[in-house]
Amino acid sequence: MKVSITETVLRDGNQSLIATRMPFSDFATILDKIDDAGYHSIECWGGATFDSCLRYLNEDPWERLRKIKERMPKTKLQMLLRGQNLLGYKHYSDDVVKKFVEHSILNGIDIIRIFDALNDFRNIEVAMEQTKKSGGHAQGAICYTISPIHNLANYVKLARELKTMGADSICIKDMSGILGPREAYDMIQALKDAVDMPIILHTHSTTGLGPITYYKAVEAGCDIIDTAISSFAGGTSQPATESLHYALQQAGYETGLNEAVLKEINDYFKPIKEKFLQSGVLEPYVLGSDTDALVYQVPGGMLSNLISQLKQQNALDRLQDVLQEVPRVRKDLGYPPLVTPMSQIVGVQATANVLIGERYSSVSNELKSYLRGEYGHAPGELNQDLVKQVLGDEKPIAGRYADNMEPQFEKAKELLGPMAVSDEDVLSYIAFPQIAEKFFKEREDSTAVKVNYAIKRV
Ligand code: CO
Repeated sequence: MKVSITETVLRDGNQSLIATRMPFSDFATILDKIDDAGYHSIECWGGATFDSCLRYLNEDPWERLRKIKERMPKTKLQMLLRGQNLLGYKHYSDDVVKKFVEHSILNGIDIIRIFDALNDFRNIEVAMEQTKKSGGHAQGAICYTISPIHNLANYVKLARELKTMGADSICIKDMSGILGPREAYDMIQALKDAVDMPIILHTHSTTGLGPITYYKAVEAGCDIIDTAISSFAGGTSQPATESLHYALQQAGYETGLNEAVLKEINDYFKPIKEKFLQSGVLEPYVLGSDTDALVYQVPGGMLSNLISQLKQQNALDRLQDVLQEVPRVRKDLGYPPLVTPMSQIVGVQATANVLIGERYSSVSNELKSYLRGEYGHAPGELNQDLVKQVLGDEKPIAGRYADNMEPQFEKAKELLGPMAVSDEDVLSYIAFPQIAEKFFKEREDSTAVKVNYAIKRV
């Protein structure tokens, strides 16, 4: 029996524990070891890595990717992509999505995990098609959530859709760590029966369920699980690579991992973890288990946002009321999964409904956009009275939001002129205009300084 492992220390582990603040220089010299460990793939790009490189680390994210590829020629590199939103929360035009995917693969990515926050697969279609066209592995992801309409039959239906769309594999993405072992077992079994293709489970240790959930998922036939090397595992990160390897091997599964190499990798990352603990970037509490998400059925990040919103308004005593309002708002909105940006939209609205006392008398622009259909289809039925109250005579958009968008790439390229030295620069700019521009200017200045220095020395 075989089960494969994807290592997340360079992306999700890094993102979940230290807000993606690990610079390339921290891990450059261990990459050849990681390449030797026997992983199925290394998740190293996408998500917040791109933003963090440009904003905080003064690194070109594309260059980081190329350097990782150079040092890890054997192992597949993997990234996370928010479908039509790429790495952010707004929609991009199709030409930009295609170019972004094409260049991700050109620069070294092998596997692209593509998801949409509402599981509206119209929003991942273009990215998926382009991934295959560019010779990459297109992994379709389904966001896991708990609601009256999200049952096994519903997940099977979503998996069938992904298969029809041409996905090479399917990932169940449990960003809040709320998938229990029994649910995981039933889900993987049902998906394996329905679609005969590789199934990946992605979860977090947040609630403490992670390791047992993975174990049961593997028993049900899960092909690949996502783990993080132990010094960057646990808490809001993934369960530990070495522990899962140990337990699964004991049960007769072959992971393909080399224990001695894993030990070397972990020994390497231990002092780096210590450094982030010392500097306060790594807060010890994110390393523990927090079971509140299981009690309230809202993700940990959303719960802490609700608490801080209420504190700001001096209304922490209304927390229970807000937590009871959350499922009602969610029902009105057709049960969106509680991931960004929906977790914020639902949380802000539930808080407003409780504090103002009259439901929906104040509504955010984001909620309006959602009801207009700008984010995609709601998984369930929208409350039509609410739609009428908020939109009035305005018609919700028909079709896919990006269908009405003008191409953006060439325009941005023209706008940037010589400031962009590659198509990759243009894509960085389109994804994060202000910070990319700042990055380009600093890059130009530092090259100028180097040139001056060289001239002086001569
Ligand atoms: Co994750």
